This record gives sequence, structure tokens and C-alpha cells, in this order.
Amino acid sequence: MNLTPFILERHFARYEFDVPHQLSCSDCEPLRMAELLALASPESIRLWETLQFLYTDTNGHPLLRKEIAAWYGNLKQEDLLVCVPEEGIFLVMNALLERDDHIVVISPSYQSLSELAKDNGCSVSRWEADGEGVYQVESLRSLVNSRTKMVVINFPHNPSGAMISRAILEEIIWFCERSGILVFSDEMYRGLEQNPADRLPCASSLSDFCISLSGMSKSFALPGLRIGWLACGDPVIFEKLLRLKDYTTICSSAPSEVLSIIALRSRELIIDRNLAIIRKNILLVNEFVHRHPKKFSWTPPDAGSVAMLNILTGQSSEEFCQEFLEKKQVLAIGSHLFSMPEPAIRLGLGRIGFSEALAELSHFSSEL
Ligand SMILES: Cc1ncc(COP(=O)(O)O)c(C=O)c1O
Repeated sequence: MNLTPFILERHFARYEFDVPHQLSCSDCEPLRMAELLALASPESIRLWETLQFLYTDTNGHPLLRKEIAAWYGNLKQEDLLVCVPEEGIFLVMNALLERDDHIVVISPSYQSLSELAKDNGCSVSRWEADGEGVYQVESLRSLVNSRTKMVVINFPHNPSGAMISRAILEEIIWFCERSGILVFSDEMYRGLEQNPADRLPCASSLSDFCISLSGMSKSFALPGLRIGWLACGDPVIFEKLLRLKDYTTICSSAPSEVLSIIALRSRELIIDRNLAIIRKNILLVNEFVHRHPKKFSWTPPDAGSVAMLNILTGQSSEEFCQEFLEKKQVLAIGSHLFSMPEPAIRLGLGRIGFSEALAELSHFSSEL
């Protein structure tokens, strides 16, 4: 395998733990152990204290799959495969695609959603939003050809915070199903909708042609657990994913599974806490953009914990972020790391320390 370096993750790895401020984290303020355990019922505490460090069930702890299914309401426990979120992308791209397949991927995207397929010899077409930032089904249809094996979507969207309606999601799925195309739906930010009525159903609950991905890293503020899941109702596809997983992690970390069960049992509380942080930070950015109208613009997210801040100063995002890092010790992720031509910075709205990083951006901008 000859994999293209994951430039976003390499950039984080280089600076993340050495800088005092972060402006662009995609997760929500990570919970501490004491906070999480304080949410646990006596039954969950028993699970935690009697935990034995056995190898775990390859498909995932049955109680964990039960809690995940309960979060969606209409998913079957048997259709869930617990894995690391990034591993889920790796499994889908390697188990379901072959050299010379064609896929359509939402653009910009979290890099592995497009690059793994490319590195495996597939051709990739990019589905971009229109000038208003809206993802139109018509433009998606126009990218499909007779070799198209898979369409990859991601709503709530990283990095823009864009959403689609349930009707549009259904239209995409019905179109793909009729054309015999799989839909891989990355739903890592599900639960963080500004309007709860916008929450989409799990794509895999709408069709056996869909595989959904989600996990504990973003909406549940537990990225360090490394727990996520794939959902798929087609037994043949499911088996292919499961077989490849025997060569990646085999099964998940036993403590992480139990801690995920505890979090999912308190899902409303955790999600409300995260949304409160995001809403407070959205107000701060609105105020910031209002104070610097010639230098920045933005569209607040419809959902998720990230959105883009457009840079209007004439600098490239790379130059801007490098100078900002050197002068103010703030790590900001520029749009170049998402291969976007327009200069912009991804804002990570789920973190408590975001206000300090934004204050540093304000000082930096005044000096420009
Ligand atoms: C859209 C999307 N999918 C998948 C992942 C992978 O999640 P994790 O880093 O928890 O493995 C991320 C992480 O940033 C993401 O933004």
C-alpha cells in the first residue's frame, strides 16, 4: 500500500500538544473521567468496576450496540460493527472498493474519505457546494457514471457545518439505490444540529445500500476513547467489513466500550452541554466578524462543531496560519489542508478555550 500522507493529521501531530491555544479542533470539549463517571447509574458503575480485560466481542459489546441502536431509534443491533471511527473509513474504502472503480465524494472532505480510494486506484469526482454553500443533488447526479460504485457524503459537514434536509438525503439514497451505487454516509457530527428538527436519520436505516459511520469523538466529547461504529443492513457488505477488521483491530478496547455505554446512556445531557458551548462560541464569532468586516466573513454552521472563517486580507491560508502560529502561538487549520482554493480557517466551536484563541486572532488581525 502506498498511502498519501494525511496532511491534516500530520499538521496536528506536529503542533497540537506544543501550543497553548487551538482555534480549529473538531471535537467538543473532551470530558474528564470524573465527569463521565458522575453520570453513571449504579448498574453502569458495576459494569465499570467488574470489567475484566478480556478480548472483546468482534462486533462490539452487545450492551454498547444496544445503546447505539437506541440512540437512532430504528437501527438493529445486529447491523452495527464497533470500530475506531477512522478505522471505519479504512474498512469501507478497502473492503468495498476495487481498482478502477469510480466514486463521488463530497468536497471539501476529511482527507481519508477521498484519498484512500484514490490510493487504491479508484478515480474520484468531487461533489462541491454551489456559490451559496448548498449541496445540490443535480450536481451530484451529473458526476455519476457507469463505473460509479460509491457516493460518499458527510452531514453535518466537516469543515463547513453545512446540512441537507431529510428529503434531500432520501433523494440521494433513492437515486443511488436505483443506480446500484452504495452510499457511504459519514455522520460523525450527528446530534450537534442547531435546530434539533434538522437531525437526519441514520442513512443505513433508510436503505441496505447505505453504510453509516458515527462515533464518540465529536458529539459525545470522547475522542480519546477511540470508539465509533459502522451501520449496515446488508449481510454481504457487513461480512466483508467484519473480515477486514480481523486484520486491523480485531475488537475494541474493553474499558473504552464500557465508558461509551455510560456516555450513551446520558446522551441528551452530554449533547446539550456540547451544544451550549457551540452556541456561545457562535455568538463570539458573530461579534468578531462584525468588528472585522473587511478582514473576515463567515456562515455560521447549521450543524456540527466546525465552520469556516473566510480570510479577506489577500493572504493565502497557509501564510496567514503560519504567521498567526509564530506570533501568537495559536494552532489554526487553514483551508489549504482541505485542498480548498479560497483562503479560510476552520473554526473549532466545541471547545471552551476557543474564546481565548479567538481573542488572540483579534489581536493578530489588528496588527495586520
Ligand atoms: C468527518 C470525519 N470523519 C471521521 C473522522 C475520524 O474520527 P476519529 O478521529 O475519531 O477517528 C473525523 C475526525 O476528525 C471527521 O471529521
